[in-house]
Amino acid sequence: MSSGWFETVAEAQRRAEKRLPRSVYKALLAGSERGLTYRDNIEAFGELGFAPHVAGMPADPQLGTTVLGQEIALPVIISPTGVQAVHPEGEVAVARAAAARGTAVGLSSFASQPIEEVVAANDKTFFQIYWSGDRATMERRLQRAQEAGAKAIIATLDWTFAHGRDWGSPTIPEALTPKAMLSFAPEVALKPRWLLDFARSGALPDLTTPNMAERGEKGPTFFGAYGEWMTTPPPTWEDIAWLRSQWDGPFLLKGVCRIDDARRAVDAGVSAISVSTHGGNNLDGTPGAIRMLPGIADAVGDQVEVLFDSGVRRGGDVVKALALGARAVMIGRAYLWGLAANGQAGVENVLDIMSGGIRSAMLGLGRTSVQELTREDVLIPEGFTRELGA
Ligand SMILES: Cc1cc2nc3c(=O)[nH]c(=O)nc-3n(C[C@H](O)[C@H](O)[C@H](O)COP(=O)(O)O)c2cc1C
Repeated sequence: MSSGWFETVAEAQRRAEKRLPRSVYKALLAGSERGLTYRDNIEAFGELGFAPHVAGMPADPQLGTTVLGQEIALPVIISPTGVQAVHPEGEVAVARAAAARGTAVGLSSFASQPIEEVVAANDKTFFQIYWSGDRATMERRLQRAQEAGAKAIIATLDWTFAHGRDWGSPTIPEALTPKAMLSFAPEVALKPRWLLDFARSGALPDLTTPNMAERGEKGPTFFGAYGEWMTTPPPTWEDIAWLRSQWDGPFLLKGVCRIDDARRAVDAGVSAISVSTHGGNNLDGTPGAIRMLPGIADAVGDQVEVLFDSGVRRGGDVVKALALGARAVMIGRAYLWGLAANGQAGVENVLDIMSGGIRSAMLGLGRTSVQELTREDVLIPEGFTRELGA
């Protein structure tokens, strides 16, 4: 076992915090305002229980399933994250790790590496797009994704651009010029291993977004891209139906919290939705995402694939989400911490922690395949669920 191996996602988080400059660690932690939703995403999982058997269990629980038309070896995929400067290999390392474990990767529009390189590392790549810029620009982004070989689109709509967090937002420079590096010198100097990784790769952390431009172009800076998104008027449901009609293949609408929105997403023609609070980075005070999953799965689960993300830190959480109606889950911070702690091997490590935990929970529950999981497998306390927009 390599020395960088870790036992839990909690340990990966501790190592990420130790290794990364403070601003970069804070950018990964994210969250908004008071952090109510951030915390409830995680704590709500702790309110759900299991009732394990001791005999008559399956020897080898089966974890495989399909999502957005792709076969995956475990019901966990990589959620798109636009965070930069965690590791020199960034999204390509994450894509390779997911491929090594037989699963799919979501690539953010705000990623630091071009989609063509990510698809070369993992052919099960789903490209995430924002409602950003004009229609012609969005069409070109979809076309590039299609030419690159993306298997599905993830449209992310859930962000209210919350301002401020009580634990402080990081300072992220526009570009890593020598002047900007100097202003980061004290905190970077405290994290020599992080800097050494970049020094070895011969590149500074790249703060541009190549997938927001034409293929081969450098792309705007992170803030340039963010500015375009912030100043684009939010989409109507007709806009979403239009966006969906521009993509010939599976289309996931990410960030649904309400039953009425889930129904509108179905009407707009999407093939999948994800119940998500953007990991607690959106409107603070939204209940933990897992509380909203059962109501939404009941309302639209027979019409579209229902995925889930926000707060997943272990395999048992994955099993709980599947039991409550998700087909698969997406993870965010868990793999970012793995990446920060140990590069590609760290992301593989996180996926192995997930598989191990899923197997362990399925064994206790006496379930042979992930498709067999039902609500009876979980102890749900009274008053646990939230049905928003019912
Ligand atoms: C640092 C960070 C950056 C993110 N960037 C994006 C993004 O660019 N696009 C997107 O659709 N979601 C983004 N997300 C949300 C994740 O895809 C996912 O919904 C969330 O992380 C799930 O919660 P978890 O971190 O508790 O697993 C980001 C999340 C974090 C923590």
